[in-house]
Amino acid sequence: MTASRMEPDLATLLGPDASAILSAPHRNFIDGQWRDSLSGETFPVTDPATGQEIARIPLSGSADVDLAVASARRALQDGPWARMNGAERGRLLWRLADLLAQQTDVFARLEALDTGRPVFETRLVDLPGSIGMLEYMAGWSTKINGESIPVSAPGTFHAYTEREPVGVVAVIVPWNYPLELAIWRMAPALAAGCTVVLKPAEQTALTTLHLGRLIAEAGFPSGVVNIVSGEGETAGAALAGHGDVNAISFTGSTQVGREIIRAAAGNMKRVFLELGGKSPMIVLDDADLEQAVPGIASAIFFSAGQVCTAGSRVFVHERIYDRLLDGIVAFARNLEIGHGLNDATRLGPLVSAEQRDRVAGYLAEAARTGTHFATGGAPVDGPGYFMQPTIAVDVDPQAALYREEIFGPVLCVRRFGDDQIDDVVRMANDTIYGLHASIWTTGLSRAHTLARRIKAGNVCINTHNFFDPAFPMGGFKQSGWGRAAGFPAIEHYTELKGIVARL
Ligand code: NAI
Ligand code: MG
Repeated sequence: MTASRMEPDLATLLGPDASAILSAPHRNFIDGQWRDSLSGETFPVTDPATGQEIARIPLSGSADVDLAVASARRALQDGPWARMNGAERGRLLWRLADLLAQQTDVFARLEALDTGRPVFETRLVDLPGSIGMLEYMAGWSTKINGESIPVSAPGTFHAYTEREPVGVVAVIVPWNYPLELAIWRMAPALAAGCTVVLKPAEQTALTTLHLGRLIAEAGFPSGVVNIVSGEGETAGAALAGHGDVNAISFTGSTQVGREIIRAAAGNMKRVFLELGGKSPMIVLDDADLEQAVPGIASAIFFSAGQVCTAGSRVFVHERIYDRLLDGIVAFARNLEIGHGLNDATRLGPLVSAEQRDRVAGYLAEAARTGTHFATGGAPVDGPGYFMQPTIAVDVDPQAALYREEIFGPVLCVRRFGDDQIDDVVRMANDTIYGLHASIWTTGLSRAHTLARRIKAGNVCINTHNFFDPAFPMGGFKQSGWGRAAGFPAIEHYTELKGIVARL
């Protein structure tokens, strides 16, 4: 496997606007002010394609988090935000969407540099997805109403409900889709009238820190959104355990999700969790392979598999097994590997040396126990954190490679026969996760019958990794609590109050 990597001249690849942002100081955004961490400490941002340091960001601690939470509390209770109606909040969200749309190219490039993901992807998904969610939630901000309830208690009453903002919301996001996930979590909270403290992941904070500028320019009052960069174990844990935070929205590993629940218990803050997955894909013998081959390959190789919903296990009917496997192996071998800022790149590096080593560790263990790789199976030599797109066949269903979330470009393939669909359903569901799944078939009723049997928050038919601002997204089992997007996301950030009057 050869990687056509260039020695990147970053300034050229980034263009003048994104370069200027990269070389300007990166600071926390608290109470409408740009601030260094109180300790003055910083930590490095690296380019995952080269391992080179490209910037430094504030290393914030619990004192910085305290300032940010206090600022969000003031904005919630005393500031102009508290007096704004839904239409005014919606206008601010819409203005932010417009500003982001004007800067699509800059944000897409910065995100590609910071995450290592292809700029082709950040342009196609992250920016439109962020803008679309802001616009969608801008629409909801005028439609968050209660209802009147006909009660049967003796006497005459007027009973009704109202929805109030839940309060100060902490948003903790991972490194794979930093800007888009931050916006997907913040937009419904802001539509509902909450205020926010956002902590991006330590590996990829550049776009979210820069988003502060657009939030200020859009006209959000000071303190409505605060952005603090720092490590999970310190700044993140301080947010999760903070007594003055009313709700937390966490996206990341299931292991840390469990810690968030424990930390939230102190003041019983409301918890939203979007965690890991080991999402199955089932290909029936009547699948349209022209659609299924690129669909399945993209489900695992998009973002080098660093997607919570990545299709990481595929069950293929034996009648089409060889054709499907040949197709996805060819797809994998044709992926252009390179620096994320190169327009032609379709597979960038993993986000960090740690993540590359983690994925390589799973593959080495699988190789040691005799797993056969149809393609790939190891890191790519050279600088940067590149990993070969990997397809493992007939993997032992008890193996770590098959059971655990790898978060890399690694697909496990298994075949099944005519009388084995019940076994396939059982195997697809035999996981601690239940986030996403897909079924590939041209048979309408087979598709919907199977969809009912899969234990996952989203089941896609003839597509995978489907997201839309209106479409509830989230997990069963240990994949999380709650649903992002659609009205369920708004509900999550509101308290329902019942009011009753004796007439
Ligand atoms: P992580 O879950 O540790 O990090 C996600 C976010 O949580 C980051 O912002 C981090 O700073 C923060 N965090 C970490 N520990 C915290 C704590 N104790 N309290 C509060 N916040 C905390 O994920 P990590 O270590 O970056 O990746 C490890 C593995 O987790 C990956 O290989 C992957 O399998 C999984 N993962 C899954 C994601 C998903 O969306 N399903 C996203 C990121 C990672
Ligand atoms: Mg971690």
